[in-house]
Amino acid sequence: MIIFEVKDLVKYFGGLAAVNHVSFQVERGEIFGLIGPNGSGKTTMFNLISHFYTPTSGKIYFEGKDITGLKTHKICKLGIGRTFQVMKPLGRLSVLDNIIASSFLRYNNKKDARDHAIKCLEFCHLDHRNDILAKSLAIGERKRLEIARALATQPKLLLLDETSAGLNPSELNEAIDLIERIRDSGVTIIVVEHIMKVIMTISDRIHAINFGQTIAEGIPSEVANHPEVIEAYLGEEYAHSK
Ligand SMILES: Nc1ncnc2c1ncn2[C@@H]1O[C@H](COP(=O)(O)OP(=O)(O)OP(=O)(O)O)[C@@H](O)[C@H]1O
Ligand SMILES: [Mg+2]
Repeated sequence: MIIFEVKDLVKYFGGLAAVNHVSFQVERGEIFGLIGPNGSGKTTMFNLISHFYTPTSGKIYFEGKDITGLKTHKICKLGIGRTFQVMKPLGRLSVLDNIIASSFLRYNNKKDARDHAIKCLEFCHLDHRNDILAKSLAIGERKRLEIARALATQPKLLLLDETSAGLNPSELNEAIDLIERIRDSGVTIIVVEHIMKVIMTISDRIHAINFGQTIAEGIPSEVANHPEVIEAYLGEEYAHSK
C-alpha cells in the first residue's frame, strides 16, 4: 500500500533546476533510500516535502491526500517528521528538554510530553545524556538527538538526511540498528545517505538522482549495478569492489 508519493516534482532556484520532474512512490513500512552526488537535489527534495520550499510545479501526496502547499507544521502534524542535514538542536536546552519541545506537538501538558520524550530518549540510547546541554554532545550522539526529536513528533513517515555522516564504524552499526528498529516500530522511512554500507544494508528500494533528475530506481543490488549510477555517483571502484 502506497503511503507517500511525489509526482512530477520540480524546484527551480533562479535558472537552476534543483529537482527536475522527479516522481516516486513509497510503500507503507518500507525503507526507501534516496541517493545522488553532492548537489543533486536530495535535501531540496526533503525541503519540498516538509514545505520549507514551495515546489515550482508537481504534487506531493501523503496517505492519499494532496499535501502540496500545506504549512510546515500541518505536514508535521499529519505525520511527516524529518531530521536536518545541518543539525539544529536547541543548544542551550538539555537533551531531554530538546525532545520535550518536539513532544508538545502531540501532548498539551508537561507530564505527558515529558513521559513521551523519555521513551524517545531511551529508544535512541541517549538516556545517560538526558540532563546535559545539547550543544555539548559529540557528533554521534547529536545525530541520535536529531532522530529522537523527530521521533517525538510521532511520525508515520520519517525523513532522515545524512544521519550517519561523520560516525565511526561502531556508531554506524548502531545507526543501522536504530533505523531498523524505527521501521520495525511501524514508521515508514525515506533515508538520504552517502555511506554505501548504510544505504545498501537498510534500504528496501533505492531511488537515484543526478542534477535533480531520476537516473535509476530499484532494489539496492539493481541500483548499485546501474551504469548511470556507477558513472554519476558510485564510480567504477565501488562496482568492482563488490
Ligand atoms: N536555498 C537555495 N537557494 C539556491 N540554490 C539552492 C538552495 N538550496 C539548494 N540549492 C542548490 O540546489 C542544488 C541541490 O542542492 P541540495 O542541497 O538539494 O543537494 P544535496 O543532494 O542534498 O547535496 P549534498 O549531498 O551535498 O547534501 C545545489 O546546486 C544547491 O546549490
Ligand atoms: Mg543534502
